[in-house]
Amino acid sequence: MSGKATVVAPSNIALIKYWGVRDPERAIPWNPSLSMTLRRCTTRTTVAGREAGAADEVLLRTAAGLEPATPPFAARVVAHLDRLREWAAVGTPFRVATENSFPMGSGLASSASGFAALALAFAAALEREVSLRQASLLAWSSGSGSAARSVAGGFVQWPATGDEDNAAAQLLPESHWDLRDVIAVVDASAKEVPSREGHRLASTSPYFERRLAALVERLRRVRIALEQRDFAALAPLVEEEAVDLHLIAMSSRPPIFYWRPATLGVLERVRHLRRAGIEVCATMDAGANVHLICTPAAEPFVAQELRRLPQVQEVIRDRVGPGPERVNDHLF
Ligand code: PMV
Repeated sequence: MSGKATVVAPSNIALIKYWGVRDPERAIPWNPSLSMTLRRCTTRTTVAGREAGAADEVLLRTAAGLEPATPPFAARVVAHLDRLREWAAVGTPFRVATENSFPMGSGLASSASGFAALALAFAAALEREVSLRQASLLAWSSGSGSAARSVAGGFVQWPATGDEDNAAAQLLPESHWDLRDVIAVVDASAKEVPSREGHRLASTSPYFERRLAALVERLRRVRIALEQRDFAALAPLVEEEAVDLHLIAMSSRPPIFYWRPATLGVLERVRHLRRAGIEVCATMDAGANVHLICTPAAEPFVAQELRRLPQVQEVIRDRVGPGPERVNDHLF
């Protein structure tokens, strides 16, 4: 039997994207990625052991209270529990309950925060001390590469060593630069093509080799811009990188289109704002929603401008955050 533990883990937004796997089974990335850990978009997960012989139980907390998770969601959680049990060499069944701070099905990725929270709460329930490196490897073993970065706060790099010893590490703490992420939700539906499929197809793009070659210098320049808190240097690099991911997706065989007309509308407004001297730039993951990275001074105006766009369904104001936290506020 184990105890009960609850962890709140954050989502993150990649400034240099993980896109493409050299080994789809183990989600081994082709390229290093670099993200900013968020503060408000989080997943809270409680894990507790059940009596021997019981089945795993997976619950979701919604506005209506705790409810059994849908079968596909529960299956992903149980598959990760199996990997975690193997790591811990235990056979215990578990009850897992989870809750997202951002609206479920808002089209925002919850796998990064979700799998990081599950791995950390699992280890805590078994009273296993895990290093940051170990936590990153455990989160990544879920198959979600971005989860490997959600175990630390601030600005986090996930290398691409080509093997299984590929843990993410913090580059700069959250206190280094108070960047904001104002998220424009333009499409609240689940994406048609999961990122798993996009990763598998990425290297079929005729431009993929060029992307990998260009990334070396782009990553170096993003790191310098972050270290120097140089927004003017960071902005064009972040946008170039986001467009590059979508260029690869759109030119994969078969092609994948994540953008919607509303995505382009928001991007146009961002260019407008920057021409007017506002410190803001845009990035998108494998979806239609747009993350507007900006300085604290620019944030209120950026949020207000987004709310004026009819194609924007919801605006979420987030910022760089400190990373996961163990809490006593259990879900059951
Ligand atoms: O963590 P995954 O396997 O869902 O892949 C995430 C891929 C992107 O969000 C598009 C980019 C990234 O680095 O987060």
